Amino acid sequence: MSSLLEKLQQSVLDVQARLQQDSSPEAVEELRIQFLGRNGLLPALSKEMGSVAPEERKNVGIAFNSSRKAIEDMLQDAKNAAGAVEAKKNSIDVTLPGRLANAGHKHPISIMIDECVNTFRRMGFIVAEGPEIEDVYHNFDALNTPMDHPSRDRGDTFYFADGRLLRSQTSPVQIRVMESQEPPVRIVAPGRCFRRDTPDATHGMNFHQIEGLYIDKDVSLADLKSILQNFAWEVFGEKINIRLRPHFFPFTEPSVEYDFSCIMCGGKGCPVCKNSGYIEIAGAGMVDPNVLRNVGYDPEVWSGFAFGLGIERLAMLRYRIGDIRYLYENDVRFLQQF
Ligand code: DAH
Repeated sequence: MSSLLEKLQQSVLDVQARLQQDSSPEAVEELRIQFLGRNGLLPALSKEMGSVAPEERKNVGIAFNSSRKAIEDMLQDAKNAAGAVEAKKNSIDVTLPGRLANAGHKHPISIMIDECVNTFRRMGFIVAEGPEIEDVYHNFDALNTPMDHPSRDRGDTFYFADGRLLRSQTSPVQIRVMESQEPPVRIVAPGRCFRRDTPDATHGMNFHQIEGLYIDKDVSLADLKSILQNFAWEVFGEKINIRLRPHFFPFTEPSVEYDFSCIMCGGKGCPVCKNSGYIEIAGAGMVDPNVLRNVGYDPEVWSGFAFGLGIERLAMLRYRIGDIRYLYENDVRFLQQF
């Protein structure tokens, strides 16, 4: 009889010892099956109860129940402890400092476009857009571009097989806007342009312009100059002087090029402005009467000016960027600076 009591005590000690070695959930389950399961040790021992002498049966019964309870408790404790470790692994430690999310920010080209557009909006211009894939009519013909103008050449402009092209300038937006509305017109049109240039420090095959168009009655070159002067002051500060130089564009007459006094040297002359004291920023001029006629506006009634600003040029001056290609390489070490 004592052997049954001993076996019960021994089984409690065995479970305790084995839990000390391994209390993983798998080990606990294995012990449960071995000791408490249907074919386990304790049910087997309970069958031996039948051969216990009647006067000892009560004590052995108590010992049996307390042993089983002890084993159950040990297994349950081990299970609880394992569960707590697991829960901790998956839980959030609210006392840790938060991690900063890397939110990103605008590209310097976008910053520059937004700043320019906002400046023109304050002067009463609204934003217009046109397609990057254009037809020859809007990109060249309607803009009064002669058939032999070099910009039409396949070596200068990207053509598709069907004759359409990647716009080489934002000027076709002028035509699309005038075709779609009656004067007066006061728009700026920011966007991408494409040319077959070999990339170098100041040229890329795609770049950005902001086109401007102002059509009303009695518009003069003085109006153009005041808008461009104001733009320069607003965006680069009042130390900037502007200069208009005679030039040629097919869609304006007279045409000018619009220069800023050099931001680097203040106009004294330096390598950036090639000692001229000025940097070219845009083309501009009074809209050619032929262009107005092409869209059905009467040039005897309406007149206006147009301009096309180079965004990359402005961004490079603003941020002192020496090579245009940095703007397109998507190198975060460069982009994080803005
Ligand atoms: N489209 C011209 C270019 O890409 C720039 C330009 C010049 C735009 C004169 C104009 C303008 O609107 O009036 O070189």
